[in-house]
Amino acid sequence: MKTTLLSINKSRLQGQITIPGDKSISHRSIMFGAIAEGKTTVTNFLTGDDCLSTIACFRKLGVKIELDEEKVIVYGQGLDGLVEPKDILDVGNSGTTIRLMLGILAGRPFFSTLIGDDSIGKRPMTRVTKPLRSLGADIDGRNGGEYTPISVRGGNLEGMEYQLPVASAQVKSSILLAGLQANGKTKVIEPSKTRDHTERMIKHFGGEVEVDGLSITVQGGQALKAADVHVPGDISSAAFFLVAGAIVPNSEIMLKNVGLNPTRTGILDVLEAMGADFEIVNEKESFEPVGDIIIRTSSLKGITIGGDTIPRLIDEIPVIALLATQAEGTTIIKDAEELKVKETNRIDTVVNELKKLGANIEATDDGMIIHGKTTLSGGSVNSHGDHRIGMMLAIAALICKEETTLENQEAISVSYPNFFSHLNRLLHN
Ligand code: S3P
Repeated sequence: MKTTLLSINKSRLQGQITIPGDKSISHRSIMFGAIAEGKTTVTNFLTGDDCLSTIACFRKLGVKIELDEEKVIVYGQGLDGLVEPKDILDVGNSGTTIRLMLGILAGRPFFSTLIGDDSIGKRPMTRVTKPLRSLGADIDGRNGGEYTPISVRGGNLEGMEYQLPVASAQVKSSILLAGLQANGKTKVIEPSKTRDHTERMIKHFGGEVEVDGLSITVQGGQALKAADVHVPGDISSAAFFLVAGAIVPNSEIMLKNVGLNPTRTGILDVLEAMGADFEIVNEKESFEPVGDIIIRTSSLKGITIGGDTIPRLIDEIPVIALLATQAEGTTIIKDAEELKVKETNRIDTVVNELKKLGANIEATDDGMIIHGKTTLSGGSVNSHGDHRIGMMLAIAALICKEETTLENQEAISVSYPNFFSHLNRLLHN
């Protein structure tokens, strides 16, 4: 465990950075490249620890993957090219890796076992193991398939219709990946719209997927064809700098190459509703929309965030809580119970760590209530091994009156390995 001294209240933010590749899309580019036929070249791939775990797992499944500074090349040989792994598949800290891989492995006629780190060992897997069993896969795991280690003996799946009990893109994607290997059609119905990168990827790799409101249907037995992927910047990473730009005095920054998929832009709706001063320029559309965002120091007001907006900003809630400490009035975040089963219980970690810095914040059953505007004092805080908590606290330190130290900052490399170099580039006296 490393303790890091963070910058204190003496800087403004100025300049521009190019946001690194999207984590969700980077994972999927490897997975789809691996199950498609042919050579897939991925550029702007996120080399965070989570996505490297996905590469390591597919190499163990016999897929040749080359990685250098510019690109990743995946030599896919179709689903039948995957081979029974001789070793356990270790997903590290990555929920996306384990849940989506379970969907792929559910359709493969061989035995495999998945494990992860301590955090993964506490995260619920029944949400995927239950529907994958209903499709026909033989799956076991600790506590009846709720926790890792999880073993799968797949194959012989029969398509089905499944109503998701939680709004989760990971669960939806897992079932769709299994559905691509099932007899007949598989239909998933979501309670609210979640990120649709898997649906877009199926089409990008030459497959067919039917989307009708909240229901998504795939036909089993489709062969996917290799397709090059240029990964857009991750709006969930940009979020830390969007908030920093809005709350650090005398700031104006440009965040380049940010993915603007509407299923991910809840943070922009929140910034707008709070009164933040930002604009989107250079918008472009390939298989995912992208653009550059300019944000300036802003006067903010508290708002209520809940309902269908939550899945569109679920990973941004820790840094939105920080933003709310700098808004006049009360911000209520509700309908966000899912935060309890992220890399940490993010209701507890956000509330406890921001309280240590002097925030007026309280936990509720399904979110949190923040009263602003408060001057943050500073102190000793801890990421608890959660990358997004670590980055949120590093941004908080920019506006703290006193010195702030962060324990366990190394977790940040899970999704943003060059976070501190980007932050230092933007900081000016
Ligand atoms: C992800 C979906 C979300 C998100 C996670 C990435 C994905 O999780 O929190 O960081 O890539 O599908 P849930 O599907 O569990 O909400």
